[in-house]
Amino acid sequence: MNNLIKIITKDGSISFRSEKFNENFHSKAGAYYETKNKFINPSRLKRFQNKPINVLDICFGIGYNSALLFENLKIELSTLNWYGLEIDKRPLNYALTDKNFNHLWSPKVIEILNSLNLKGLYKNKNFDCKLMIGDARKEILNIPKELNFDLIFLDGFSPQKCPEIWSYEFLSQLKNKIKYEGYLITYTSAAAVRKSLKNLGFNLFNILPTLSNKNYWSDGTLATFDNHQNNPYIKQLSDMEIEHLNTKASIPYRDPTGEMLSKEILEIRKKEQQFSKLLNTNSWRKKWKMA
Ligand SMILES: C[S@@+](CC[C@H](N)C(=O)[O-])C[C@H]1O[C@@H](n2cnc3c(N)ncnc32)[C@H](O)[C@@H]1O
Repeated sequence: MNNLIKIITKDGSISFRSEKFNENFHSKAGAYYETKNKFINPSRLKRFQNKPINVLDICFGIGYNSALLFENLKIELSTLNWYGLEIDKRPLNYALTDKNFNHLWSPKVIEILNSLNLKGLYKNKNFDCKLMIGDARKEILNIPKELNFDLIFLDGFSPQKCPEIWSYEFLSQLKNKIKYEGYLITYTSAAAVRKSLKNLGFNLFNILPTLSNKNYWSDGTLATFDNHQNNPYIKQLSDMEIEHLNTKASIPYRDPTGEMLSKEILEIRKKEQQFSKLLNTNSWRKKWKMA
């Protein structure tokens, strides 16, 4: 079973459900909504007006995060060096046959997406883009060593479904590919991911939630080495979030060979959690009155 099932999200934009991963590509609130609030707004793209910018989009999928990035940078006239990593060619290919998806973007952005879909490349005076198809753990090694990124989008399926791209070892590769003032942005606030990033030396920020719900306290995580942030879309981690990093949920996903299967990564972590003396995550939930 490896089908992609089309979904119309609440904001009218299309997404897919992966039968293989048993998970949707986007939250039901909206694919476009999620891209704008969780990835593009916190990126503060105006900083790159008329300037060069290097971006790495991991788990490119249908391409929403980068399509909206291209749309914004086109306006800001930035010079973009872009790499996308994705294991499956079909999401973008299917989306480009959908009228609704095509209507979301300007002709220029559709031209870029079509070129990435057909050739894996796009190049003009300002933009140099390469989409690499394969396992992100391997493809990342094919990015020129000297290239460091201003922005890294990490948008894989959830850690419990696709742990290989959230492992301590994969995140440490990202550490080596980001600029000091660069942003690593992800929708997840999973303690295991945050704790790994923290242990790698990143400063962590909560991406402010756009939905008001007691149980919905985060739109994700922004990690950077630069601690001086003037960014209205993020805030320092709260006491509750800091405590989350001392629970069993914070035990990292480990993939020392970079070749382990999801199942193996999950099994090893589960065993580690069983023997761990860290705070039980349910006690943490109760303390902070979460459902
Ligand atoms: C949540 S979806 C991505 C959503 C995406 N950013 C978008 O706008 O559509 C996760 C994507 O990760 C891809 N993926 C899963 N495992 C991967 C791996 N090991 N390397 C690269 N991509 C992977 C899936 O094929 C899927 O397209």
